[in-house]
Amino acid sequence: MRPLIAGNWKMNGWTRQLADVQSLADALNVQPASADVLICPPFTLIERAVSAAAGIVAIGGQNCHHEASGAFTGEVSAAMLRDAGASAVIVGHSERRYKNGESNAVVAAKASAALRAGLLAIVCVGETRAQRAAGQALTICGEQIAHSVPDEMSASVGAIGYEPLWAIGSGHTPTAEEITEMHAHIRQCLMAQLGTSGQLIRILYGGSVTSHNAHSILSLPLVGGALVGGASLDSSEFEAIVRAVPS
Ligand code: PGA
Repeated sequence: MRPLIAGNWKMNGWTRQLADVQSLADALNVQPASADVLICPPFTLIERAVSAAAGIVAIGGQNCHHEASGAFTGEVSAAMLRDAGASAVIVGHSERRYKNGESNAVVAAKASAALRAGLLAIVCVGETRAQRAAGQALTICGEQIAHSVPDEMSASVGAIGYEPLWAIGSGHTPTAEEITEMHAHIRQCLMAQLGTSGQLIRILYGGSVTSHNAHSILSLPLVGGALVGGASLDSSEFEAIVRAVPS
């Protein structure tokens, strides 16, 4: 599988930043990337970002509801994202799990809805600093995989984002050994659950990825791409991360 570099804009992004999406698409049109490139702006920008991205950069959502439609004031469904031109959605980001109280079961339902809607589902997992300190990182992430990855998941329709909470927005990243150990564990869990379908599912690393550390992280053999928060808001920084993918 080609690596996937996904930008998560979180609750950031204004009309003026559509020009950044367009210039990234232009740059990748001239010099194609060695990775699939995805930007997940807030809902308000999705449709216009799809136009600006001109089919060169994929556009996704950061969350979705598990039902396709109905009496869920303020929610947006996976099918609606698809209708707006999105081709992917992040589910189970730790900010949703911890700040919005989303359980593994909720994340699994959202991931299934994404697959039903024809979106690539990026299911996020990750441990807290305390869980890592207590030696529970592998167990916690294994449990999150077991209970939030739906059985219909495969490499063409889904990806995993491993994002240790303590690395998000902190400027701290795990060591190469820690990333490798976790990605190997996640692969093992995926294969135990999904059989051969779990073999090629891309496992992205996320948490303080920048143009400075991207090459070394993306060169790790078990890393299938990156989920980039803060650094994806700066278009030249994000392009540099895309260019850091080993070809
Ligand atoms: P960060 O965020 O790159 O700003 O650490 C990553 C994420 O939360 O997806």
